[in-house]
Amino acid sequence: MMEWTDRHCRYFLRLLSRRTFLYTEMVTADAVLYGDRDRLLGFHPAEHPVGLQLGGSDPSKLAEAARIGVDFGYDEINLNVGCPSDRVQSGRFGACLMAEPELVAECVAAMRASVPVPVTVKCRVGIDDQDAEASLDRFVATVAQAGCRTFIVHARKAWLRGLSPRENRDVPPLDYERVHRLKERRPELEIVLNGGIESLAAAEAHLPHVDGVMLGRAAYADPYLLAEIDHTLFGSDETPPSRLKVLEVFMPYVEAELGKGTRLNQMTRHILGLFHGQPRARAFRRHLAEHAHLDGAGIEVLEAARRIAAGEERRAIAEIRELSSSAAMASCARSER
Ligand SMILES: Cc1cc2nc3c(=O)[nH]c(=O)nc-3n(C[C@H](O)[C@H](O)[C@H](O)COP(=O)(O)O)c2cc1C
Repeated sequence: MMEWTDRHCRYFLRLLSRRTFLYTEMVTADAVLYGDRDRLLGFHPAEHPVGLQLGGSDPSKLAEAARIGVDFGYDEINLNVGCPSDRVQSGRFGACLMAEPELVAECVAAMRASVPVPVTVKCRVGIDDQDAEASLDRFVATVAQAGCRTFIVHARKAWLRGLSPRENRDVPPLDYERVHRLKERRPELEIVLNGGIESLAAAEAHLPHVDGVMLGRAAYADPYLLAEIDHTLFGSDETPPSRLKVLEVFMPYVEAELGKGTRLNQMTRHILGLFHGQPRARAFRRHLAEHAHLDGAGIEVLEAARRIAAGEERRAIAEIRELSSSAAMASCARSER
């Protein structure tokens, strides 16, 4: 998810679940070819298994971008045929490609020819006034002929005329049965359902009908949802780590990244929901929101947040005061300069 599932987010999510497959934000083929590859594609080995999602509609550029992605170590290359933003439509990729199955098939064929890992597609059930029954079947049949075995289907249409990208994630009605019917008709394909799934129970309810479930916003807002997945859905007998344990294990990563010049809030913004629904969740979030973006904010900010979450309040509050006054002094010193 753009601006959300960057590598820091994925490293954090991986501490919660070893088995869940993670995806990057969409990166356009042009960005991969002409941009800062290390920044766009670099990731920590602990993130595996992880797929790179590409955006584009030029088969040869996508093939080259996929190859570069595999050189970076990605386990899967996914093509975005679901993103409805205007910017994306003008570049002729994302959800508007639902109307061009042959072109998507060409892209998939070119990518498959250039990489040894699976090439998958994320799409919608349809766009605008397409008939979600016949058009989706035709789209999937055409793209499957090019060798795509896995389709992740966001179970709502994208209305490209009239709705903003944000509205397109909520307004068009969810049609889970349409995705279930796709699996019934194409049992040999791997069909993963996405859209509006907010709990593991809801995810489990779909699993008799499809091969997998993808969680977006719910996993970001309440990442601890993932901690139960290995046990509940993959049958692992390892006990899930506690929220505090996850935070403790995240801290050395944060310290190492701070040492490389990454700003604290680039990492901590992804963990604001870790204590979702727990006592002191709000204080934990507030502490990070108020302190992690300050110049020079270091690991001590996260340590204070950990103590707040753990209920070690007094010491944490004293430290917050100290931090606030030193941050205020630093900003006075700056303004005097
Ligand atoms: C901030 C944000 C960014 C997103 N970026 C992407 C993206 O880069 N690629 C993509 O395929 N979907 C993207 N999506 C859509 C989600 O992957 C997902 O399909 C959608 O949110 C519905 O699933 P959910 O209800 O579980 O969130 C994004 C969603 C959000 C909220």
